[in-house]
Amino acid sequence: MKLIAAKDYAGLSRKAANIISAQVIMKPSAVLGLATGSTPLGAYRQLIDWHQKGDVDFSRAVSVNLDEYLGLSGAQEQSYRYFMDQNFFSHINIRRECTFVPDGLAGDPQAECARYNQIIRGLGGIDLQLLGIGGNGHIGFNEPGAAFEKETHLVELTESTRRSNARFFQSPDQVPTHAITMGIRSIMQAKKILLLASGENKASALWNSFFGPVTPGVPASILQLHNDCTVIADEPALSLIRKNTGWEDMVYDN
Ligand code: GLP
Repeated sequence: MKLIAAKDYAGLSRKAANIISAQVIMKPSAVLGLATGSTPLGAYRQLIDWHQKGDVDFSRAVSVNLDEYLGLSGAQEQSYRYFMDQNFFSHINIRRECTFVPDGLAGDPQAECARYNQIIRGLGGIDLQLLGIGGNGHIGFNEPGAAFEKETHLVELTESTRRSNARFFQSPDQVPTHAITMGIRSIMQAKKILLLASGENKASALWNSFFGPVTPGVPASILQLHNDCTVIADEPALSLIRKNTGWEDMVYDN
């Protein structure tokens, strides 16, 4: 794992956008695994800016998103399909039919998971998977205790995840109880992984994930075993790692 320190959120977003645009420049038909949440927003904004200046071309790129709430349609503002359209896809030249997000309204969620796995396989796998991290160490919607060997599957969200995502809904009870998520196995099969963490509320998740034991109790800890994983974190998110290891440099490579 390579850990890169960013001074603040703007620095984190710029460094992340650099890695993503380099991927698309090196391989225009890259398959990008994308994430929602507040954390990647700055990187998406930076990529939009570079795209509008003519520096990055997404016309041959393909995207597969990590997850979607069950029961929400892509037209609903809280859905991850809507989030991606609004915050990224509609501002760049990726072809809409090349952007994949699990269907939250699928009548048969299990069949939808199987279909999604087929899509990923058919694309030849993911070149670069972007990840945020939950306060409890979840990635995608793989909550603590999730089996490492799963591909896309249906999950029940924990109360803590529903509470922290309630800010996007009018009331906490509107937060769906279930979601479809790529599993840890799908994530681990990506050729490269880029995880972003910003803010003090991610400090313990980051410490436990990258400096603690590899355990299903901390889903992101499995990333210690990925052979091309880069983590970019801002100083508040790094605070516990700095304190516990005495690490002072900008890059930590293990
Ligand atoms: C959600 C998403 C995750 C995301 C996490 C953290 O639960 N399913 O993919 O990483 O929230 O979100 P944020 O970046 O807003 O802190």
